[in-house]
Amino acid sequence: MRVMVTGGAGFIGSALVRYLVSEIGADVLNIDKLTYAGNLASLQSVQGAANYRFLRADICDRSKLRQAFDDFKPEIVMHLAAESHVDRSISGAGDFIQTNVVGTFSLLDEAKHYWEKLEGTAKSQFRFLHVSTDEVYGSLGPEGLFDEETRYDPSSPYSASKAASDHLAIAWQRTFGLPVVISNCSNNYGPYHFPEKLIPLMILNALEGKELPIYGSGLNIRDWLYVEDHVRGLFTVASRGRVGEKYNIGGRNERTNLEVVTRICKILDDVAPRENPHSDLIRHVADRPGHDARYAIDATKLEEELGWRAQESFETGVEKTVRWFVDNEAWWSPLRKQVYSGERLGILTRS
Ligand SMILES: NC(=O)c1ccc[n+]([C@@H]2O[C@H](COP(=O)([O-])OP(=O)(O)OC[C@H]3O[C@@H](n4cnc5c(N)ncnc54)[C@H](O)[C@@H]3O)[C@@H](O)[C@H]2O)c1
Repeated sequence: MRVMVTGGAGFIGSALVRYLVSEIGADVLNIDKLTYAGNLASLQSVQGAANYRFLRADICDRSKLRQAFDDFKPEIVMHLAAESHVDRSISGAGDFIQTNVVGTFSLLDEAKHYWEKLEGTAKSQFRFLHVSTDEVYGSLGPEGLFDEETRYDPSSPYSASKAASDHLAIAWQRTFGLPVVISNCSNNYGPYHFPEKLIPLMILNALEGKELPIYGSGLNIRDWLYVEDHVRGLFTVASRGRVGEKYNIGGRNERTNLEVVTRICKILDDVAPRENPHSDLIRHVADRPGHDARYAIDATKLEEELGWRAQESFETGVEKTVRWFVDNEAWWSPLRKQVYSGERLGILTRS
């Protein structure tokens, strides 16, 4: 099985590449531009594998994409390349529109160009998985869950760009017949998570005795999924999902941000004790503009139709994650020193 993965040097993409190369035994071509979020150190375990290759390319570069399709001849495309951090999309949305919207358009159109030349089962079995987020649905009140029929209502420039890319993917299926499937997932966490997102940022700040900034009240709710559960879900949808369908992926693990940070502090009190409890470092700071109150995923369709289940609870997953960061300073230390040291992003400035 030949699988083209875009964004395979990122957090979820690298977990997917490690899974496909090591556990599934697929031939993988990883296409990644290596932005600040792309990191080949996350792929060290597969770097020398005969069934893995890497191409540094921008998904907006159509001639490189065309060449890659012609050379590699993928049976499945799994599209994860994106600008993914909400706070950065508030500071500047240009890269989000370029990669998430224009880049997805370029990839869909090059996939169509390649797919139209295929014949027989190669054509009918080809799949394009577009990987998206639950943030396209906007914000929930205290009750209810997002399902696949929930109306799109994105709040941030990031989620609006992802919503646009979802619509493009659906249009390429309905209009041109490209065999597209879409997944919408809740917040991921786990090893190799770039330390700008809540969980790794809090772990590293706490380890370094720095303040733990909580946006607003800290009562905003996210539905957390361990990245390896997500990756198995992505492969399930790409290989067995029905063409033209969307599948929500989530672990039924709703937690307030304050609960998440408090849990991390408790684990660190055991694993890396300091004089005072780590929770003493918690500080409430100005809220994120447009901060969605609550996300929660109903994953019944994926569970019942394709038999996927999250294996990790939030408690087991977050414990593994904290221990991984404690044990892997060699992975995160260069990122903290050279790429992003934890300063606040996404504050509105008047122009
Ligand atoms: N992180 C989450 O919690 C989450 C949840 C649901 C869905 N998603 C989606 O999953 C996908 C992966 O998310 P992630 O958290 O791993 O993101 P990430 O930011 O960690 O990684 C993104 C990767 O894409 C690459 N990239 C960016 N622009 C590119 C371009 N123009 N051409 C080629 N490569 C480019 C980067 O170099 C990086 O390796 C995204 O599409 C995101 O929207 C993420």
